Amino acid sequence: MPAHVIVGAQWGDEGKGRVADWFAKDADIVARYAGGDNAGHTVRVGNDTFKLHLVPSGVLYGSTINIMGNGMVVNPLKLVDELRGLDERGIDIDPVRIRLSRRAHLITPAHIALDGAREAQRGSGKIGTTKRGIGPAYTDKAARSGLRTGLMEHPERFAPALREHFNRKNRQLEALYNAEPIAVDQSIDVLVEAADYLAPFLADVDFELYEALRAGKSVLCEGAQGTLLDIDHGNYPYVTSSSATAGGALTGLGIGPQWVDRITGVTKAYTTRVGAGPFPTELDDERGDRLRGTGANPWDEYGTTTGRPRRCGWLDAVVLRYAARINGLTDLVVTKLDILSGFDEIEIADEYTHHGEPLAVFPSEADTLDRVEPITLSMPGWQEDIMSVTTLADLPQAARDYIDKIADLSGVPVSLATVGPARHQSIPIAD
Ligand code: IMP
Repeated sequence: MPAHVIVGAQWGDEGKGRVADWFAKDADIVARYAGGDNAGHTVRVGNDTFKLHLVPSGVLYGSTINIMGNGMVVNPLKLVDELRGLDERGIDIDPVRIRLSRRAHLITPAHIALDGAREAQRGSGKIGTTKRGIGPAYTDKAARSGLRTGLMEHPERFAPALREHFNRKNRQLEALYNAEPIAVDQSIDVLVEAADYLAPFLADVDFELYEALRAGKSVLCEGAQGTLLDIDHGNYPYVTSSSATAGGALTGLGIGPQWVDRITGVTKAYTTRVGAGPFPTELDDERGDRLRGTGANPWDEYGTTTGRPRRCGWLDAVVLRYAARINGLTDLVVTKLDILSGFDEIEIADEYTHHGEPLAVFPSEADTLDRVEPITLSMPGWQEDIMSVTTLADLPQAARDYIDKIADLSGVPVSLATVGPARHQSIPIAD
């Protein structure tokens, strides 16, 4: 079995972690290809909830190998915390099954300070970043001045490289942003200690993936963020700094396109977004509040990473068709269908108009997307609680019609729907 890519079809938070966990049971390797600890993947196993930020979701299956690819940016302090936390909860974190690319880039405290300082300077033009240092770390990568994970194996070079990095960043922080400098010696000490812990996990993962694929092993490529947060194809500049789309799986892991035979897009049954930027189907009323929930349940719409309330709105089929095109989706997983129970009517945006004219192509400008008028169609809702339904036949007819409509409007078959956070709350639809 070759490579299967899991990609977010909206603005992130679609439930990719739990979907990757679902498919991980049939995978030999789960490999994350982009982003950093800006992502928060929540996976429920039995009564346990795991919040993963860097380690792929396959870690929760004993036999799976878990790879963090070169497309990622890794805060070593966060990765150490995450690995130690998993270890304490009895999850096997042997380096044999957890592999970190030597080509990924490091996030340091200076990147985090710069992320905050740049956001503050943007004023009302804020992107609403997660302040995890993602943008500044990818900036250094593109500027060819970044620190790669592989350096952590070479303490004699790592410490001087960190010193040079902090001295340079402190000059920027002070001169450009009037911000507090980073405590250099103290930061070097903690990072060198983290490097010592992480060095055994480093590997040439692109080579290992190639060998595995040639040997007929199956690789699940786990995305982070979503299509509309992609640095190229999202609503720039309200995006993250990585290639979150399916193409990012190839460059972010170093595998060739010929290995990929399935590209699953993950969409919520409605839409959410955190941070600033256009959101055509956003609901600023009690229906949006209802989708968001109060925060009393762990699955309510508050960020896993930052705790920020998410903006909520109806499903947007224009976005789904765009995601289908950009990623080459072969199938869709619809998550959180249960949240729509109790609505009398459910709407889906099927088209946008701009200055009264239908838009033929998804707009490249955030400004245009901000001004479109979504044309919605309305469908009857259902009142039943569907959280214990496990087969398509047991779903209310209105919920089945809604799934059919999503497939119809997006042009992509729906393979799975989820009706709650636990593994068993998944309804296979077609494979
Ligand atoms: P950054 O990735 O922290 O630079 O944030 C850039 C934009 O992407 C902001 O709007 C964030 O809210 C958004 N973002 C980053 N990661 C995630 C995620 O995992 N889920 C949802 N939004 C995200």
